[in-house]
Amino acid sequence: MIRIIKGCSTRSFRKGLKALSLLLAAALLAACGSTRAAEPRTLRVGVAVYLQSDTFISTLVKELEKLAQARESTDGMKINLNVVDGRGSQLTQTEQIDRLIALDYDVLCVNIVDRTSTAQLIDKAKEADIPVIFFNREPVAEDLHRWEKVYYVGAKAEESGVLQGQILLDRWLNADPPVDKNGDGVMQYVMLEGEPGHQDAMLRTEYAVQTLTGAGVTVEKLAGDTANWDRSQAAARMSSWLEQFGSSIEVVISNNDDMALGAIDACQDLGLTEEEMPVVVGVDATAPALEAVRQGTLCGTVRNDAAGIAESMLDLALALESGEDPAASLELTDGKYIWLPYQRVTLRELEAGRAGV
Ligand code: BGC
Ligand code: CA
Repeated sequence: MIRIIKGCSTRSFRKGLKALSLLLAAALLAACGSTRAAEPRTLRVGVAVYLQSDTFISTLVKELEKLAQARESTDGMKINLNVVDGRGSQLTQTEQIDRLIALDYDVLCVNIVDRTSTAQLIDKAKEADIPVIFFNREPVAEDLHRWEKVYYVGAKAEESGVLQGQILLDRWLNADPPVDKNGDGVMQYVMLEGEPGHQDAMLRTEYAVQTLTGAGVTVEKLAGDTANWDRSQAAARMSSWLEQFGSSIEVVISNNDDMALGAIDACQDLGLTEEEMPVVVGVDATAPALEAVRQGTLCGTVRNDAAGIAESMLDLALALESGEDPAASLELTDGKYIWLPYQRVTLRELEAGRAGV
């Protein structure tokens, strides 16, 4: 008996016990002639986010909750989502995840605070045999390969940088009104970066500029700094750059929409006229950013597919809970990744109804 228990993981042993007790209960009910309906299938998902007040993350969580509710009514099952907020602290998040593991959730969805510290978490989940789906904040590939039941759902950061660069390139070439205000043939820009170390911050910064220079545009970086994805931090950075460089700033490249809107806030606080405003681009396609595109203060953004990410996470969680091989029903890259495409959004796409938003 002991040898058999040792041979299987604690979780599959527990699952075996659960199945056995369900069978016994069913037999007892049948024996009593009960007509009570069987319990509906239940999926319990622990969702740990790095910071729930982050605009993009809160949108994603809302999408997840909406989809779970819709699935409950179409599939007649119960989906229990327990969302915990790490409030930007890895220590807090680690404690929250330990608790989710202790509560034996079926699947964990993790938006890790510190993307370089996933190894220990994966080892703990493996010990408890609870599959982990990371999302939005990508662990290093080496960690993802520590265990077969670890996945990542997200969008390719470099793709968003390329699309941002293309939006700016189009705007540069279609110089009406001209982006090159001082007419020196050089694009003077400032860069608002997301959190240091985040794959989206590093790669968006790199690829947006590379797309411009690769297409033959000469660029000059006046300044660049992190504003941690945050609107008010970005407004503060932009205010001091406006003081320093004034109207020399022709373009603001921002790693996300909240910071792009912060830069616009700073320009408006200073009372810049429409002609004086720099060309600003962001990423995410949040509701306020789309409004700014319609108003013409934001030149463009790149849609970061919160609904698509949420849907893939839920599909993956359902496949894992049922013990299916997720590759049978989902498109996985390297058996580990589900990639959602980014999409460019300017007034042109919005007016043509092609923004997918
Ligand atoms: C989004 C940011 C968000 C960050 C959080 C990025 O993909 O573009 O808006 O703050 O993820 O991890
Ligand atoms: Ca110029």
